[in-house]
Amino acid sequence: MSVVENIRDTHDISLEELRQILTTDDSEAIETLRAAAREEADRVYGKSVFVRGLIELSSFCRNDCLYCGLRRSNDQAVRYRLSEEQIYQCCEKGYRLGFRTFVLQGGEDGWFTDERLVPMVANIRRRFPNCAITLSLGERSRESYQALYDAGANRYLLRHETADAGHYARLHPAEMSWQHRIDCLMQLKEIGYQVGCGFMVGSPYQTVETLFKDLQFIRQLQPHMVGIGPFVSTHNTPFENYPNGKVETTLRLLSIIRLLHPHVLLPATTALGTLHPQGREKGILAGANVVMPNLSPIDHRKDYAIYDNKICTGEEAAECQACIEHRMRRIGYEPVVDRGDYKE
Ligand code: SAM
Ligand code: SF4
Ligand code: FES
Repeated sequence: MSVVENIRDTHDISLEELRQILTTDDSEAIETLRAAAREEADRVYGKSVFVRGLIELSSFCRNDCLYCGLRRSNDQAVRYRLSEEQIYQCCEKGYRLGFRTFVLQGGEDGWFTDERLVPMVANIRRRFPNCAITLSLGERSRESYQALYDAGANRYLLRHETADAGHYARLHPAEMSWQHRIDCLMQLKEIGYQVGCGFMVGSPYQTVETLFKDLQFIRQLQPHMVGIGPFVSTHNTPFENYPNGKVETTLRLLSIIRLLHPHVLLPATTALGTLHPQGREKGILAGANVVMPNLSPIDHRKDYAIYDNKICTGEEAAECQACIEHRMRRIGYEPVVDRGDYKE
């Protein structure tokens, strides 16, 4: 049995198989991997690609992750925070464009206390009862996650960043704890959220061994979503001189994740589109099935500068949506704006 069939049929991978896939230059073997992953995605979700509207709430962050342009020590970062009214307007605009999932993402901005955020989520829930509300606001207390869930949030994206505690410690300052991040993911799952974990591909100090741990972590957690994208080197951060992650490695990992976990909602990320003009199309063809065009107000787009050269910063929401939908149709996929829930 080939390695690819083995991963598909057992939903498991060995360290040696992973090494082989990530290092091979046998293009036929890679084509087999991609085709098998796409076949699995088609079997579960057909030719649909789910389109989620991304709203970037705030570029303030209390954390100092070494890789991120929004880290608190980046004195060149331009900080903004959307007002409550601006957030509702983004949702309204998204709703009119057909979106039925809103992803509210931001730095860990202390302004968004539970006292402010919980009523805001409850309001969005009231105004848009048939929409999924996805939050991606970092680490919060269990009580906070519970209150946001009770107010109507359905999904939470919190990349685990790396499943290796030693690697995590090299990507983050000492005050940040790998165990805490993992605990947050467990709590979110227990509360009942549809949960997304994930990691950057090609982050500094990443090895085949740490990636193997990431894949084993995904197998254990069985998340509803997995967000992976290449690390993008960013000016005025401690990693500004490190090379970008590789598009090709990201594509191979997307395919492996699809084979390990066929039902997962797997975005072709903006970071992939940033490092290659057809990165998101390639991601879909490698087994991804979600894209997230930007719904943030245009005057703040460029300031949500997680990494350098981020795409989709100059286009209006409708333009970005039309662009991504056209890109999906061109490769034979149908963009779908409905809730696009995880299929058990
Ligand atoms: N602050 C929240 C958090 O960290 O979970 C949500 C926003 S944060 C900007 C979203 C993700 O961006 C992070 O989980 C990280 O994986 C990714 N990211 C940050 N800096 C990056 C970089 N330089 N290249 C690629 N992805 C990056
Ligand atoms: Fe803040 Fe998230 Fe960036 Fe870390 S990755 S500095 S938590 S925005
Ligand atoms: Fe955003 Fe093309 S997808 S501008």
